[in-house]
Amino acid sequence: MRILITGGAGYIGSHVVHDLLERNYEILVCDNFSTGNKKNIVKHEHYKLIEGDFRDPDILNAIIDFKPKVVFHFAASKAAGESMINPIKYSNNNIRGTLFLLEKMIENEIQYFIFSSSAAVYGEPEYLPIDENHPRNPTNYYGFTKKVIEDNLEWLSKLTDLKYASLRYFNAAGYDIKGRVLGLENQPQNLLPIVMETLIGERQEMEIFGNDYPTPDGTCIRDYIHVNDLSNAHLLAMDYIIKNHANIVVNLGSEKGISVMEMIQTAEELTKKKLNYRIGQRRAGDAAKLLASSKKAKELLKWNPLYSDVKTILLTMWSVYQKNYHILS
Ligand code: UFG
Repeated sequence: MRILITGGAGYIGSHVVHDLLERNYEILVCDNFSTGNKKNIVKHEHYKLIEGDFRDPDILNAIIDFKPKVVFHFAASKAAGESMINPIKYSNNNIRGTLFLLEKMIENEIQYFIFSSSAAVYGEPEYLPIDENHPRNPTNYYGFTKKVIEDNLEWLSKLTDLKYASLRYFNAAGYDIKGRVLGLENQPQNLLPIVMETLIGERQEMEIFGNDYPTPDGTCIRDYIHVNDLSNAHLLAMDYIIKNHANIVVNLGSEKGISVMEMIQTAEELTKKKLNYRIGQRRAGDAAKLLASSKKAKELLKWNPLYSDVKTILLTMWSVYQKNYHILS
């Protein structure tokens, strides 16, 4: 079976690529390396790469000519804060780009689409844990772009043969448990890469965005899910939509909450390093606490996260950062 992966050299995409290759599928990765990393290019007889932007009509035609049965769409911009300052980047990449890809898929009768959605579609939680029926009222433009695509998918799948999985990621974290992925993200903006960069000395200090939230230690609580568990859910979702010829919309989270401060303290203990941080202002749009219910994914996909404990998340990340900074060979 042939599979197209946009953004296959990025953080989550590169993990999924390895898992798909282990199942012996024929893979075409399309990546413009804006945030992807060339270290994530794989040498494998079933792996092809087109370097370029899927929004470029020539590139789009080339990837569609591969005649994939399934498209995994990871290529998107994902920094919520940036989306509020530079919305056009997000409307172009996340909305227009994805619609352009879906139009081509439908024209060419490519039926199966795996979409990287986000817990950002929910906005400020009205109740916890957040299940899939929670109202979707995004508080940032990034979350809105994901909602717009989810709404289009719902319509297009009613009107055409398209079938899709919309996977609402909570906080993706960790690195490959088997050590196959070594490329770091360019200019990361999420908590854990910033913790790692500070521990390794790339940054002098980091900032905790507020310690006056209504949580036990005053810092925000999030639900971190290991990237290998996320990847596994993608393969299960693909199997599900093909087998049942049905759509699926699911949360992917660990159902465990950890605060920013707890994360920092655990990182210090595990790495035996002191982390320089200061308490800064709250970041606009941050909810005090986010927590997933992943009951639906567990029931329908038989998904069972294995690596999403904080220790595994932090140690797999630390190992990749050490290798990149030549502390480990
Ligand atoms: N944080 C800091 N300092 C930093 C970076 C982050 O204190 O330098 C804090 C944030 O304020 C937040 C927590 O760490 O409280 C996690 O922040 P991230 O930026 O890592 O992640 P978010 O929870 O904001 O968002 C992430 C993804 C979104 C997704 C969301 C779903 O980036 O795409 O998880 O839970 F929608």
